[in-house]
Amino acid sequence: MATRPPGFFEGTEMPNAGWWEALWPDPAGVLASVGVEPNMAVMDLCSGDGWFTLQIAKLARHVVAIDIDENLLEVARHRLTEGRVTNCDFVAGDAYELTRLWPGPVDFVFLANVFHGVPDRERLARSVHDALAPLGRFAVVNWHQRPREETIILGEPRGPRTELRISPDQTARAVEAGGLRLVRIVEVPPYHYGAIFERPAS
Ligand SMILES: C[S@@+](CC[C@H](N)C(=O)[O-])C[C@H]1O[C@@H](n2cnc3c(N)ncnc32)[C@H](O)[C@@H]1O
Repeated sequence: MATRPPGFFEGTEMPNAGWWEALWPDPAGVLASVGVEPNMAVMDLCSGDGWFTLQIAKLARHVVAIDIDENLLEVARHRLTEGRVTNCDFVAGDAYELTRLWPGPVDFVFLANVFHGVPDRERLARSVHDALAPLGRFAVVNWHQRPREETIILGEPRGPRTELRISPDQTARAVEAGGLRLVRIVEVPPYHYGAIFERPAS
């Protein structure tokens, strides 16, 4: 097994593409459901191999992809080059240190399939708060708190261990403690929900 960089969040390894693509056949639809819009400057936080980053770039004015794993950023860079989009930057670093990594501010931070593994969620929420413009939004897309045996994709249980999974309420409490306000929760079928937050105006 490959060595994880220091600070790597638990249970957030990038899965092999086969079942990820089966789980997320419509990444643009997910982005629309959580409120990513044209003209936004977006941060794809913990962007992995760029499966969502490419669709953000096609939709938004600009996207910065941030991930702790430089190899995955290279895969994402390649994907976006192949997709012929150029409105993207790639930055390697830790999600707790966003204002150091990207001067920003951004209009929207998108975080998918990661929050369950973050040891200090309030700290991450504060980092996102500081990276956002006033009234900017933060979408957290999480696995529902269901037993892993029930989240079957391509014939097998997938996703993080059952005990790592967190409810919309737990997510909302952790993110609100970091200074953001819950706007709404949306369903992201078949196994996820999205929690959308806003940075207050002042
Ligand atoms: C399960 S993948 C999800 C990738 C992408 N968000 C998606 O849904 O397709 C989680 C990603 O989080 C990254 N990651 C883990 N710990 C991190 C940290 N402390 N700071 C930034 N990225 C991190 C991993 O390298 C991995 O690419």
